[in-house]
Order: sequence, then structure tokens, then C-alpha cells
Amino acid sequence: MTDLEQLVAQAAEGFSLATDGTALENEKARYLGKSGVLTELLKGLGKLEHAERKTEGARINAAKERIEALLTERRQALADAELNTRLQSEAIDVTLPGRGTPTGSIHPVIRTWQRVEEIFRSIGFEVADGPEIENDWTNFTSLNSPENHPARSMQDTFYIDGLDSDGKQLLLRTHTSPMQVRYARLHQPPLKVIAPGRTYRVDSDATHSPMFHQVEGLWIDENISFADLKGVYTSFLKCFFETDALEVRFRPSFFPFTEPSAEIDMAFSSGPNKGRWLEISGAGQVHPTVLRNMGLDPERYIGFAFGSGLERLTMLRYGINDLRLFYEGDLRFLKQFS
Ligand code: PHE
Repeated sequence: MTDLEQLVAQAAEGFSLATDGTALENEKARYLGKSGVLTELLKGLGKLEHAERKTEGARINAAKERIEALLTERRQALADAELNTRLQSEAIDVTLPGRGTPTGSIHPVIRTWQRVEEIFRSIGFEVADGPEIENDWTNFTSLNSPENHPARSMQDTFYIDGLDSDGKQLLLRTHTSPMQVRYARLHQPPLKVIAPGRTYRVDSDATHSPMFHQVEGLWIDENISFADLKGVYTSFLKCFFETDALEVRFRPSFFPFTEPSAEIDMAFSSGPNKGRWLEISGAGQVHPTVLRNMGLDPERYIGFAFGSGLERLTMLRYGINDLRLFYEGDLRFLKQFS
């Protein structure tokens, strides 16, 4: 005769060792499955005498019920345990403060752009805007760089397949200087304007990016001299850097569209970068040929132009030494300016 007590004890142990639902169901099959031990015992009843069958049947059924009860109990225990771990891992602390909506901020170069506009507006300059896709004539020829002139190679550009409606070659402007001519052809002197915007060159390293920003300045009237350029530009820099402790140097240079031409360098005369000269702008007196292309009489009108790099100004203002940081979109960098 099978020791049913031992069977029940065995099942109880097997169930309690099962640590998840699958293991428990496998264990159940050993006793109550199609060919489980109890199922087989019940099947064997048919071979017994009537009287014996009755008592043996009752005994087996009682054991079966106890095993079923043990099973239900274990199922419930496993389900409770699972629920508890889920409740713990998915717990929400409703007393925590909310995450909030992160606020964006103005990009440091755009901040410089805005400051430059503000400062020049305050001394009577207009602000003009023009196309980044320029034509060859306005970007080069009108600025006294005829086709095949070696000066064009100073600014290797991105040419675009296609011509504008006048049949002129299209390209991404290499500087904001074409805005001098565009603005002058639409306005009457005195012309006193800045034109900030994006510019493009085939150039890429720590201090050059294929896309960068410039601000063009132009002041033309009957008596605007190089001395005005020096005065305006120097006071702009003092305003922009919020200090009088800086020196400005006009170093002779060459641009086809100005004569004489200068490179403007500046250095702080105090602070951590004291005495380090940095080139920040090209400038000069507008060339007579350019004045003619503007539709103006060079015998009557005279003035200056400059073109400064907004990234350079921003790098100097915040002490940034790699221009590529501006374009990597790294929040750790950008957040410092918010
Ligand atoms: N366009 C020149 C450059 O990008 C700068 C410049 C502007 C020089 C105006 C003189 C006058 O290098």
C-alpha cells in the first residue's frame, strides 16, 4: 500500500521549493497531472475488490484534496510575493517634487549677435538682413574681385549647381560684405548700417567652422574717414566687453574691396588674457570701384566698412578656446550660458 502521508509530505516540500509559477505547475504535474502519481493510483482502483476500492478510493481522494489545498496555498503565496516585489520596484513617491519643464536658452553666438545689434542701434546704425545664398557677382565681382582674380582664392566657397534669374552663378556667401552693395543699391546716403548673419567657407579647425557668423558694418557719407572707423569700432569693443581696459590695433592688410585695408586686432590690458592679441575684424575705406558698383559717385562719397567674426567676439568674451564647441549641441557647454 502506498504511503499517502509520505506522498503528501513530499508534495508539500516540492511545492515549497518551487520559487515561481512555472516550477510550481511542473511540480503539480508530478502528482495531479495526466500521469501523475495520484492519477495513476486512482486509475489502479479498478483492479481492487469493491470494499477495498471504497476505503482506498476515499484515502486517495483525501490525499488528493490535501495536495490540491497545498497547491492553492503555494500559488497564492507566490502571487503575493510577486505582487510585493512589483509594488516595491514600481513604488511612486507622490511627495517628490515634479521634474519641471526644462527651459531653453539663447545660444552664446546669438547672444553676441543681439548685443552687437543693440550697441550699433544705440549709435544710429540700421540693421539689415540679406540672403545666405548669394550670387557670384554680389559676393565677389561687385566687391572688386573679378573672375579669376587671385583674391578669390582667399575665400574658397561652396558653389551651388544653378544660376539665379539673371543667369548669375549661385553660391553660399563667404562673408557679409555683399550686404554692403545690396543695401547701398536700395538706400540713399548717408548709409549707416550693420548686417549680421551666417557665412560659409570651406574651412574647418579649432578656430574655423564651415558655417560661421559675421557682422558687416558700413558707414558712407560725404566725409566719413578712417578716424571715424577707429572711433566707432573702439567704442563698440569697449561697450561689447564692458571694459575700457582694452587696446585696439589697426594693422595694414589687403582686401580687394577696401583701400586702405586693415586687420583689427585687440588685446585686454588687464585680466587673465592680458596682452594676448587676437584678430577680430577686417576693415578699411570702401574702394572707389565698390562705391561705383553701389551706384555712388566716389568723388562725392567716402566711408568705411568692417566685417567681424561673431564667434571670435563670443570666444573672447567668455574665454572659449575651441570654436567647434558652439556647434556640437552639448548641453554641458550650452547650459553655462543660460
Ligand atoms: N569680408 C572680409 C572678410 O570676410 C572682412 C571685411 C569686411 C574687410 C569689410 C574689409 C571690409 O574677411
